[in-house]
Amino acid sequence: MEYSSVFQGQRSTRSAFLPFALPHITQAEIDEVVDTLRSGWLTTGPKTKRFEREFAQRVGAPHALAVNSATAAMHLALDAIGLQPGDEVIVPVYTFTATAEVVVYFRARPVLVDVDPVTCNIDSAQLEKHITARTRAIMVVHIAGLPAEMDAIHALAKAYSLPVIEDAAHAFPAKYKGRTIGALSDFTAFSFYVTKSLATGEGGMLTTAHSEYAERIAMMTLHGISRDAWKRYTSEGSWYYEVLHAGYKYNMTDIAAAIGLQQLARSEWLLERRRAIARRYTEAFSHLPELETPPDPAHVEHAWHLYMVRLRLERLTLTRDAFIQALTKANIGSSVHFIPLHLHPFYRDMYHLAADDFPAALGAYRRVISLPIYPGMTDEDVEDVIAAVERIIGAHRK
Ligand SMILES: Cc1ncc(COP(=O)(O)O)c(C=O)c1O
Repeated sequence: MEYSSVFQGQRSTRSAFLPFALPHITQAEIDEVVDTLRSGWLTTGPKTKRFEREFAQRVGAPHALAVNSATAAMHLALDAIGLQPGDEVIVPVYTFTATAEVVVYFRARPVLVDVDPVTCNIDSAQLEKHITARTRAIMVVHIAGLPAEMDAIHALAKAYSLPVIEDAAHAFPAKYKGRTIGALSDFTAFSFYVTKSLATGEGGMLTTAHSEYAERIAMMTLHGISRDAWKRYTSEGSWYYEVLHAGYKYNMTDIAAAIGLQQLARSEWLLERRRAIARRYTEAFSHLPELETPPDPAHVEHAWHLYMVRLRLERLTLTRDAFIQALTKANIGSSVHFIPLHLHPFYRDMYHLAADDFPAALGAYRRVISLPIYPGMTDEDVEDVIAAVERIIGAHRK
C-alpha cells in the first residue's frame, strides 16, 4: 500500500535542499489529531492509554508507559531501580548525551565503555572490566537501529545481578535473534522525537516486564500522584489525590499519542521504506572502496533509523568535514552520529577523559557520515544522494 506524505511535492528537483530527516505525516495523523482537538481532551487521556496498549502489544512487552521523551523514560528507569549518589552505571561512550546525563541527574557516575569499531555498539568484551562493587545498571544503545549483542550483555548482567536498560531511541522496530527490541531487558526506552522512525514531535515510551516498576514509573511520570491521576477530571475520577513522592512532569499528551497511534499502525510500511532505501544505498556504495557501508548481520532486524557510512580517509584527499560541506553544496542534508561523549567539555572535564581513552569511538567518529533515510524520500531523492556521494568521491580519490 502507498501512503502519501503531506510533505511530498515540496522538493522535487535537487535545486531544492534535501533535508537530512523529515517525519512521515499523512492525512491519517492529521485526522487523528483533529479528532483529539475536537474531543476536548488534549493531555494524557484515552488516546495515550490506547497508544500504550497498542505499543506494548507491538513490541511484546507486558507494560508500556508513555512519556514525553526517551530521556524522561531513562530517568524514570533509573529512579525505579533506586539509583543513589555515588553509584555507577555502565554507559557506552558512543551515544547522545541523554543516555549519560540521566545518570548524572542522580549524582551518580556514568562509567563510559568503548564500542565495537564496526557496529559502534557497546563492546561487550570490554564491559566486564568496568563493573565494580558500585555498579547498579548496564545501559545499552542500539546505534542507528542496529541491535547490540544482547546475549553477551544479558549473560554479564545475570552474572553480576545488574538490571539492563536499553536506550532504544533508534531501535523501533528492531529485532535481536527474532525477539523484538522492547521485550528483552528490564527496561527499554524509545524516542518519538521528530527525526525518529516513529515520530510524535516529542515523546517516548518505557517498556518493562516488571509490574512493580511499571506502577512506580506511572506514578513518578505525573508528580508522584497515585496511578490514575490523569482521570481525576472525569466522571470515573475523584478530586481527591495524594502525593506519595516528589515526582516529575513527564506525561505524554493525547495530541502526541494521536500522531503515535497512526504512525504505529503504519510502522511495518515505514520500516519497509527505510529498509528499501538502505538496500539501495548499500548496493550502490558496495562498488566504492572509499566507503564502508553499515553492518546488517543476519541475526538482527535493523530499524534503519540512521544510515551511517564510514569514509576510508586513507583513500581520499578530503576530510569528513569537507565531505559534509560538499554534500551541503550538492543540496544534500547529512549529519554526524555521534560526537563521542568523552570529547564533549562536560564529560571530558568532569571525568578527566582524554581523546584517545576510547580509540574505537574516536576512530568511528572521525570517519562517519549519516545520510538521509526516511520514508518520504522519493526514489529520485535516493538516487540524488547516491550521485552526489559518487561525484564527491570521484573528485577526491587518491
Ligand atoms: C541514542 C539516543 N538516546 C536518547 C535520545 C533522546 O531522545 P529524546 O529526545 O526522546 O529524549 C536520543 C535523541 O536523539 C538518542 O539519539
